[in-house]
Amino acid sequence: MAFGIEKLHLVDTTPIQYMPTLSKELGIELYLKRDDLTPWGAGGNKLRKLEYLVADALKQGATMLLTVGGAQTNHGRLTAAVAAKYGLKCAIVAIDDYPGEVSANILLDRIMGCDVILKADDGRDENLQFDELCPQIIKQYEDKGEKVYFIPMGGSNALGALGYYDCAVELTAQAQEMGLEDARVIESVGSIGTYMGLYCGLKNENSPLRLTGVAISPFGDYKEKRIVDYFNEMKETYGLTCEGKRSDFDIEKDYTRGGYNNLSQEVRDAIYLMARKEAVLLDPCYTGKGFAGILEMVKTGKIAQGEKIIFIHTGGVPGLYTRHHREAFEAELIDGVQILK
Ligand SMILES: Cc1ncc(COP(=O)(O)O)c(C=O)c1O
Repeated sequence: MAFGIEKLHLVDTTPIQYMPTLSKELGIELYLKRDDLTPWGAGGNKLRKLEYLVADALKQGATMLLTVGGAQTNHGRLTAAVAAKYGLKCAIVAIDDYPGEVSANILLDRIMGCDVILKADDGRDENLQFDELCPQIIKQYEDKGEKVYFIPMGGSNALGALGYYDCAVELTAQAQEMGLEDARVIESVGSIGTYMGLYCGLKNENSPLRLTGVAISPFGDYKEKRIVDYFNEMKETYGLTCEGKRSDFDIEKDYTRGGYNNLSQEVRDAIYLMARKEAVLLDPCYTGKGFAGILEMVKTGKIAQGEKIIFIHTGGVPGLYTRHHREAFEAELIDGVQILK
């Protein structure tokens, strides 16, 4: 509970696990913080944000959660999970094409009873399209008697970020116990809430841990402005004593592979490496991309030999079953499947 703000209890302390084989191969000390092992709706980072957001929704008497994202949003899936647990209706609105099948996160959303509303991208600014579409959809539900609580993309507002403020405190205590105070925390950056919560939590609580974000989609003007505005909003809302200028936010922008949730050979190779050396499954949209970035940072010396890295596994594994990713994996893996007659 940060700043005395109430939250639900959905997540216990997640383990930090040493990865011995990859550490040896890469010449670093690699640890994973297993936020993918959080317990509801197949797990992932968004449960920490939803502890705060859904507590607020319940306090306001909401009967329904509505959120936005891509068709395969992990955040949407976990919003659906928490809604199911608390007896709330749920809908996900996505500016995206129908992928041609109910699979991966969409399948899990539907299993958990959540509505999924897809509208094809008309090419205009995505925020503009959501701003037009969401009020219409919300009105449709309100006309049916629902009281809708809107959760922004990725749960990334000042309240949602507190989930990762708490995680920063948790990480600092674990690092102290494990002798990892000089480690660098690395996580994959999408809508920035996880990064911002961690940044504020580490800085404001004087943690010795350092933080690097790996952007998983192009980090253009909108995000450049957003990250600064987001910090200022956090500082003002919670009266933070720490500072945050753009130059304080360490975001690696070179490993996006050119798009959001796109196909990438390097990302698939990073997923194979982690799975085959450490038996940990990563996802193709966020954690696989983040880890592919880590591998390149080790190669180029951006991560020093011997450096201690705590990579946050933020979840997203159902994304492996997303149609375009699954088909690309199948093409590479079918040769190891023997079909006996
Ligand atoms: C698996 C996974 N990792 C990382 C992130 C990035 O978190 P954020 O959007 O807070 O930057 C997301 C966001 O959806 C995610 O689903």
